[in-house]
Amino acid sequence: MAQKFTVKSFQEAKENNRKISMLTAYDYSMAKMVDTAGIDSVLIGDSLGMVFQGHESTLPVTVDEIIYHTKAVARGVKNALIVADMPFLSYHVSKEEAVRNAGRMIKEGGAEAVKIEGGALFTETIKAIVDAQIPVMGHIGLTPQSVNAFGGFKVQGRDEQSAKRLLEDAKLLEKAGVFAITLECIPDKLAQLITKSVSIPTIGIGAGKDCDGQVLVINDMLGMFSDFVPKFVKQYAKLNVEITAAVRSYASDVKEGRFPSDEHTFDMDSEVLKKLY
Ligand code: KIV
Repeated sequence: MAQKFTVKSFQEAKENNRKISMLTAYDYSMAKMVDTAGIDSVLIGDSLGMVFQGHESTLPVTVDEIIYHTKAVARGVKNALIVADMPFLSYHVSKEEAVRNAGRMIKEGGAEAVKIEGGALFTETIKAIVDAQIPVMGHIGLTPQSVNAFGGFKVQGRDEQSAKRLLEDAKLLEKAGVFAITLECIPDKLAQLITKSVSIPTIGIGAGKDCDGQVLVINDMLGMFSDFVPKFVKQYAKLNVEITAAVRSYASDVKEGRFPSDEHTFDMDSEVLKKLY
């Protein structure tokens, strides 16, 4: 029987050179499939703002929406570590508000850890959340909540100054007590250096193969989200094609009277029926 994956398992995995697998999920059915398939950790990412809600960025996502999705995911997960994303403005205003919002993810949503975007700017906030006994995953590189400050979704850490800042951020996050760090859209050699420079695991998305683990947005890797396909995404299925074809067949079966057939229909005793006329 598969064992429960915890924040301790993250650390053990790094120490034993065993790669960590992580995927997003936003609903019960998907979370159950992801967990059954043996994924180590499920992230209720604020990416749901784009792939589930159809926004152009993750900025509109609220704490209540993350909690709503986390509750659904938590009901479907037995073994994977459940990590809920802290959405934009849920940890920026004050440490107190950040702790309260992180606590709601755990208490109301059923998350086992939270994820926060940002480096040096947020270390005091992260320490306060960790002090409240809530495990925190860091997230640096292309942090989508900073899309306006970055001027678009762009690879980070390509020049000396920003690469040095990211390396420093990773070390500061480790000091602040995060149990792992997501590295998003940075050059693979920088991700390799960061991974060697910290004792906690790094989880890459568009950060090359040398991270301690990998995370992808489930709608991307299943080929369900077709608005755009980032370079770092490997599509393991083309569900947008399959789902559209299945729905087209259903629509045509209904129009042509092929569905429902006897197989999908309930019958009734003919004597009972007679009495109705
Ligand atoms: O919101 C999200 O899904 C994420 C992953 C892309 C790491 O932050």
